[in-house]
Amino acid sequence: MSTATMTLFHNTASPFVRKVLVFLHETGQFDRVTLESVALSPTSPNAAVIANNPAGKIPALRLADGALLHDSRVIVDYIDHQHVGEPLIPRDGASRWRRLTLASLADALLDAALLIRYETFSRPEEKHWTEWLDGQQAKIIRALGEFEAAASAELASRFDVASIGVACALGYLDFRQPDLAWREQFPQLATWYAEVSQRPSMLATQPPV
Ligand code: BEZ
Repeated sequence: MSTATMTLFHNTASPFVRKVLVFLHETGQFDRVTLESVALSPTSPNAAVIANNPAGKIPALRLADGALLHDSRVIVDYIDHQHVGEPLIPRDGASRWRRLTLASLADALLDAALLIRYETFSRPEEKHWTEWLDGQQAKIIRALGEFEAAASAELASRFDVASIGVACALGYLDFRQPDLAWREQFPQLATWYAEVSQRPSMLATQPPV
């Protein structure tokens, strides 16, 4: 019998959904969630998602009492408050703000990568705005530079909100920008990612092939 009490609006390609799934696995709560798979894009919103989240975005999590949580930052915070182990988001002190700032930079990298994906996948090539695309890509490279500096000490110290965010961001780059070759430019990050990408939570949540 299923023990699921929550519903996660879900798409296997979404790196923000992946972040939530990794949190669920790492905190032993994956069985509490039923996955409701949805297809959506900025030009074809999903009616079921809009009915629950006016922003029309995933992930969104429906709780047992019907309350709806979004976005991924709110959902992972909620998940982190539902287990008894060591928190994956430090509750206070300097580490809380540093780890959340690294996580925020990983989200910013993902925002840029998604905007690039939408521009290049959804719009005809002659309408692509090259300077804008270059600006988004430059943001990604700058974020990778910051993660390279953090890789061997800060990211390696624990697998928490910061490390999960960066790992999911790198997984999305490999998925949607396979020619980027970021590993050559950021070798310490590559070494760190080679290890964490083998965690059961990361292996169980890989993007589709
Ligand atoms: C993608 O195909 O890259 C994607 C799909 C859904 C949400 C986010 C990204």
